[in-house]
Amino acid sequence: MNVLLVGNGGREHAIAWKLAQSKKLDQLYIAPGNPGTAQYGKNVDIGVNNIAELVDFAKSNDVSLAIIGPEDPLAAGAVDAFEAAGIKAFGPSKAAARLEADKAFAKQVMHTNAIPTAEGRVFETFADAKVYIASRDEAVVVKAAGLAKGKGVFVCDEPADAIIAAEKIMCDRIFGEAGDTVVVEDKLLGQEASILAFVDGRNIYVMESSQDHKAIGEGDTGPNTGGMGAYSPAPVVTEAIMDQIVKEVLVPTVDGMIRNGTPFKGILYAGIMITQGGPRVLEYNVRFGDPETQPILMRLKSDLLDVMLAVCDGRLKEMTLEWDPRPAVCVVMASGGYPGGYDKGKKITGLDAAGDNDDIVVFQAGTAQQDGDIVSAGGRVLGVTALGDTIAEAKAKAYSAVDMIDFDRAYCRRDIADKAIGKLA
Ligand code: AMP
Ligand code: GLY
Repeated sequence: MNVLLVGNGGREHAIAWKLAQSKKLDQLYIAPGNPGTAQYGKNVDIGVNNIAELVDFAKSNDVSLAIIGPEDPLAAGAVDAFEAAGIKAFGPSKAAARLEADKAFAKQVMHTNAIPTAEGRVFETFADAKVYIASRDEAVVVKAAGLAKGKGVFVCDEPADAIIAAEKIMCDRIFGEAGDTVVVEDKLLGQEASILAFVDGRNIYVMESSQDHKAIGEGDTGPNTGGMGAYSPAPVVTEAIMDQIVKEVLVPTVDGMIRNGTPFKGILYAGIMITQGGPRVLEYNVRFGDPETQPILMRLKSDLLDVMLAVCDGRLKEMTLEWDPRPAVCVVMASGGYPGGYDKGKKITGLDAAGDNDDIVVFQAGTAQQDGDIVSAGGRVLGVTALGDTIAEAKAKAYSAVDMIDFDRAYCRRDIADKAIGKLA
């Protein structure tokens, strides 16, 4: 069958790499894709938010399944548009994508269904938010309710900082209308984990656990990024904690969405803080995480296309997935300066040598093809991902591949997976 994958990040390279292993796949199209995805199909020059054109392309190219990678088109109703045109689409409807696109809605779903999360309040005016923050002694987190490319969250240890954050979001409107509403919630302490599950509306298949590294600097210092590396499994998610997350978070969320009249289909990703009091939801995402997808899909042995079709058809109950027991570690190589301003167009060398090993894949994100070379074209450029017999071995292999790759001002954290190896735990 022909498949259209929408997106152009490291996540989409990993999805394309995995789909290409399926016997069911005929032609893969990726819109707009990157030089990494072009190895497995045809890149099509249509932007991820150009939904009408994407649907037209699918109709005229005999596409049977559309897979939507990023959150923006999901929140804008891409899945609804494909389905209205009679094409299967992997991902939640616009109404269900609000779990990610509207943090006030997500908080309401959590409250209605008694899902453990930080105590929080929702505000529509800066004046109200300010009075509330000023009345609090503890550290709070201020979040723009709408989509802000992962940058809409301010963790503030002092109320004065939280008031400044709310002012930037609500008065200066640094995220535009995404900040018209804010959520102010208690700061939680603990280790984070990303729990991703396939959901077909009713049934849930939980994938192997993973952990992202959001901060730019080693030891989790500096500003947050889209994610500087990830590994799977995350040992902090013990079997008992996973059971608790399934029972207390995933099942009530999926059931709550059914009761809400907006059943959830696609990937439900719960960002969890494992606190001393147990797991608490930090956020929902309604799609594969980036970079968590890279190590998770390296470990998936089963056919991804089969599972995605089962999700679309409500047949997830029939599926059993096989996983490689070996851990995987993904190290993101970014452009110097990211998450602030950075240069583009830097020639990347060493990609072939670095990926010349069955256990290592160099997933491309912000890259472009220029005069026969691969050059940098974004903040997060590559996700160098390796399997190993232990997390320490996977880490060592990933960094040995990183060390073969070079581009001007390339930057990576050197401590990806150290929490699992025990250094910072
Ligand atoms: P979110 O987009 O809501 O996941 O927030 C992005 C990041 O901000 C999370 O991955 C956490 O590192 C941090 N964060 C969000 N909410 C909280 C919270 N209540 N307490 C502590 N950190 C938080
Ligand atoms: N890695 C975090 C995200 O995909 O939102």
